[in-house]
Amino acid sequence: MLRATAVAHSNLAFVKYWGKVDHTLNIPTNNSISMTLSDAKTTTTVEFDASLAADEIEIGGVMTSGDARISKHLDRIRAMAGSDLFAHVQTRNTFPSSAGFASSASGFAALSLAGASAIGLTLPDKELSMLARQGSGSACRSIHAGFVEWLHGSSHETSYAVQVAPPEHWDLVDIAVVVSAEAKEISSSTGHKLAENSLFWSERLRGMPALVDTVRGAILNRDFETFGRHMEAEALSMHAVALTSPHGNGNAWKSGIYYWAPDTLLLMTAVQNWRADNLPVYFTLDAGPTVHLITTSGHAAGVIAAVEHIQQEKDWRIFVSRPAPGAHIIKNEDSR
Ligand code: PMV
Repeated sequence: MLRATAVAHSNLAFVKYWGKVDHTLNIPTNNSISMTLSDAKTTTTVEFDASLAADEIEIGGVMTSGDARISKHLDRIRAMAGSDLFAHVQTRNTFPSSAGFASSASGFAALSLAGASAIGLTLPDKELSMLARQGSGSACRSIHAGFVEWLHGSSHETSYAVQVAPPEHWDLVDIAVVVSAEAKEISSSTGHKLAENSLFWSERLRGMPALVDTVRGAILNRDFETFGRHMEAEALSMHAVALTSPHGNGNAWKSGIYYWAPDTLLLMTAVQNWRADNLPVYFTLDAGPTVHLITTSGHAAGVIAAVEHIQQEKDWRIFVSRPAPGAHIIKNEDSR
């Protein structure tokens, strides 16, 4: 029996994936571009075992009574290998789940690689990315190192991520400021579904191909100003769609999704002032209140000092990430 341990890092989208054409296969409406993050890592061990009557899943050192999303993903791996063996799974993150990093991205990338390897499949990166995508859309980007683009495609076979540039290409730094540990009210899966109800939805998609070209080109040319301006505006475009996606019924009706906390806005305006003071930094925001401040390594200390200056007594946490490696096996062993 083979036991395989894989590591994968989460990723941060500079051009966001928001909305799907297929909610089961996770086929997105647009290409997205991300950076794989060094400070947000998942380590997962998978071992298939003929003596098991069900999957045994341990998350962060705690044995669960089962995890439907993980077992469903193992089913995909079992189907690919023609196996009906259940598995032991142990998975652990280096970052708290409330930190505003997509733990499902690193989680499903690590589970895909460890699971495929443990069952004896050697999958090329394209197929690993297609597999990870079915667990969680953004996980398909965490298969690759550095700067990554997810080609939206129109079917399972045509929707996968590719590397745009390796980690050493550009010394970008993501300073993630976690301003609230509260769980979000609307999951990203629900947000993806509600997006098409926004009156700005089609407008966002209309400009998307040109925007993706611009951001990819700015990364390849290491053009920080073009990159930063388009990335920051793009995050606000995604949030404009979310803010205008009505949901709920009766008295629980809401006109849109607010992923922000008050301190999110405080930081967003601060960033604009810091730039006016010649600190080269831009922000982006995922579906949560954490503000990701993007700068180059030479200015990271200056940005952290600026955050600490306005933080005062507030209970914020800061995570600093650089471009990271893609998903990789750290241990393959014959067990028992
Ligand atoms: O993969 P999901 O369903 O967690 O969606 C991710 C959505 C965003 O983080 C907001 C954008 C992205 O491209 O990662």
